[in-house]
Amino acid sequence: MLALMPRLPPTPGDAAWADPARRAFRWALGWFLAAALLGVLLRASQLPGGPRIAYGHWLHAHSHTAFLGFVFNGFFAIALAVFVPGEKRENYTRLFVVMQVAVLGMLATFPWQGYGPASIAFSTLHMGAAVMFARRLWRDHEAGSGARAHLGAALVCLLASGAGPLALGPLAAAGLRDSPAYALAIYFYLHANYNGWFPFFLQASVLRATETAGIHPARDRAARLSLRWMAAGAVLTFAQSTLWLGPPGWVFAVAGAGGAAQLVGFVWWLRALGPLSGRGLAAVRALGSLSLVCHAAKLLLQTASAWPALAPLAGHRFVVIAFLHLVFLGVVTAALFAWALRLGWLRDSPSVRLCLGVFFVAAAVSEALLVGTALGWASAPILPGALCAAAVAMALALVPLVLVQR
Ligand code: HEM
Repeated sequence: MLALMPRLPPTPGDAAWADPARRAFRWALGWFLAAALLGVLLRASQLPGGPRIAYGHWLHAHSHTAFLGFVFNGFFAIALAVFVPGEKRENYTRLFVVMQVAVLGMLATFPWQGYGPASIAFSTLHMGAAVMFARRLWRDHEAGSGARAHLGAALVCLLASGAGPLALGPLAAAGLRDSPAYALAIYFYLHANYNGWFPFFLQASVLRATETAGIHPARDRAARLSLRWMAAGAVLTFAQSTLWLGPPGWVFAVAGAGGAAQLVGFVWWLRALGPLSGRGLAAVRALGSLSLVCHAAKLLLQTASAWPALAPLAGHRFVVIAFLHLVFLGVVTAALFAWALRLGWLRDSPSVRLCLGVFFVAAAVSEALLVGTALGWASAPILPGALCAAAVAMALALVPLVLVQR
């Protein structure tokens, strides 16, 4: 998809470390490898004779490193490259360093104390830096009205997502750690990310790329209509995160309406992009298409999951994990790699394409195993070994990508 867009203005600075956007992407990839290795550890711990770990604590380390080290830094890099004028990019360096200290702190403390004083302090530090980043980006960005609307929604969702983790401390202090309220606070954080910050930011960045060819009034209107439907959908689909509690029928209806609203918004967003030229790197086109297909699949699955008969399947742990990774790997990671190739942060070579292919095939195998098991198709005894092998393949595929960045 991104390859089909007009070219962006060149990123100033040739040396890899001279450009803050490129430097942020390097860090993002490094943290991604760390998150993938933690994924391997989680899977290995479920093998007979595998390492015995405090699973929940390492799970927090994995998800925080992936969210804040990989995705946040990746978005930070794209935001600088796409929205912020070259001469202002260096102003973000100190903020970026604070965020890396926070991610390192979380990686070092979550495994040992789970949600404890030090890990909460580091995640609060990151949250504070994210608030400053959002303010600064909103002040500095150069986006036309369609992209600006989506960027604004993304930043609002980013700020709102902080309410989830902030509620955890008071809930735990009130002895509600095992209550639905505690789980809902975590789900709210995930929801505000995968139905808000992530899609709105990616939509804004692609709209921005189309704007460089001149803003077309009809497309601008489509972008703003898309925002309205998607924003309504983002609010309503929080109902989906409550379906596991067996709520009354109207909550299912709200969840379904939210999914449908997001689908309508997605179609308007595609219309806002206008006719696509079909030029550009084949690898970028393939990754962009993968991201789009996974996004469409996510929206369809989300809408379908509001059907009460599907509630037991939608609430199955394996299906939840597969759904989350469909978004994180299929939608977000594919889009981030597409941008990295497009902006020249990753070399487009046969070996890079091979690594990307191995990564996404292994991710697809992992998804199929999880969903197949939930549906009763895959056999349970081979499952831990096969899931672990898929995680190892994903981590190994990332190693050369970390090493070959330009
Ligand atoms: C690089 C490949 C990745 C691998 C191998 C991997 C592996 C895993 C594993 C094994 C689990 C635990 C599943 C369970 O307990 O049933 C998990 C959970 C999770 N992962 Fe990943 N993951 C990867 C990438 C990502 C990315 C990119 C993100 C986010 C941006 C992410 C976010 C999460 C979240 C939020 C959970 C659930 C945490 C919870 O239930 O509290 N993962 N992942």
